[in-house]
Amino acid sequence: MNSHTNVAPIATLRDAQERPDVVSLIDVRRHFGKTAALDGVSLSVRKGEILGIIGRSGAGKSTLIRCLNGLERPDSGQVLIEGRDITGLSESQLQPLRRKIGMIFQHFNLLSAKTVEENVALPLKIEGLPKAARLQRAAELLDLVGLSEKARAYPSSLSGGQKQRVGIARALAARPALLLSDEATSALDPETTHAILTLLKDINKKLDLTILLITHEMEVVRNIADRVAVIDGGRIVEEGAVWSVFADPRSETTKSLLNTIRPQLPDHIGQSLTQNPVGEAVLSVDLAGPDANAPLFADLSAALPHAFRLIHGGIDHIQEQPVARFFIGVPDPSRLDSVLQFLKGRSARVEVLGYDARPV
Ligand SMILES: Nc1ncnc2c1ncn2[C@@H]1O[C@H](COP(=O)(O)OP(=O)(O)OP(=O)(O)O)[C@@H](O)[C@H]1O
Ligand SMILES: [Mg+2]
Repeated sequence: MNSHTNVAPIATLRDAQERPDVVSLIDVRRHFGKTAALDGVSLSVRKGEILGIIGRSGAGKSTLIRCLNGLERPDSGQVLIEGRDITGLSESQLQPLRRKIGMIFQHFNLLSAKTVEENVALPLKIEGLPKAARLQRAAELLDLVGLSEKARAYPSSLSGGQKQRVGIARALAARPALLLSDEATSALDPETTHAILTLLKDINKKLDLTILLITHEMEVVRNIADRVAVIDGGRIVEEGAVWSVFADPRSETTKSLLNTIRPQLPDHIGQSLTQNPVGEAVLSVDLAGPDANAPLFADLSAALPHAFRLIHGGIDHIQEQPVARFFIGVPDPSRLDSVLQFLKGRSARVEVLGYDARPV
């Protein structure tokens, strides 16, 4: 596993390490015939943290979630929820535990014959809470998700974003220790997705709620997760603070999942690159954290006038950390070594991607 925990900001790390684990998986394996859906997964989610788990279709995400709420039993390994191993529990022992785990889904899973407030209050009815107390709690939760005026409406009259707000309110009704989100924004448009993610982050802060978020979209991880674990073929292939994984992805799976949201060398340039050192050298330049706040290219230009040109790139800000990725061209190969030396001296990760022999 590629671990990035060593590059997390010191303050965050210290704070996080003092918090207890709400979930721990220890070497969890689950096979279906010859398919290893989970192939030795070890992972923990700390109190108050938002952990994003990202992977392609078939990577093992749903199997992992099902192991957490006891719908699936691992072949071996341990699943601890608030320190308690649930792998050996009977179905009736699992029931109260499932109430400690709230869940939200891609297709909301609301009951269409019940009103919004009845949907939200349903988990409390199952717990045996009196009606007045249920409605009181439902009203508080609808207020929390900004949907008080829809209490008496039926799900069919709501937009997708509103339905997911009801889903979130219902998931929180029994005051869970953990919220599991399985692709909860996959059916929503980008603007609504953003609003729902903002709401989840808000609730995470207000209630110190621990959230485990399963997704195939890096954008979701980027926007709200504190930490990310990348799963591929039933294994965690990379894990760390979101900004550090985005700044320096180590596994091919992570790199490829990041392609959609990190600057990429434009195709028409990539296609004309060769490894024959003739023409303009094309470089990728990666820099993150405090180093990325320095005026790197202004300094490079002052030190080596006219040695380079900017091709593409930008600076993202993730978890309040700048994460920069640029592509530059060095038209005169005789200056390449000086440019490389300068950039490396400024802690940038530099790679010569190839040479473009066409005239600039
Ligand atoms: N009940 C089952 N019987 C047989 N194979 C299964 C079963 N459940 C999962 N698998 C297999 O295990 C692997 C992991 O499946 P899983 O559903 O966990 O993937 P996923 O990451 O959730 O994918 P998706 O993003 O498509 O939902 C897949 O190869 C899948 O075919
Ligand atoms: Mg799935």
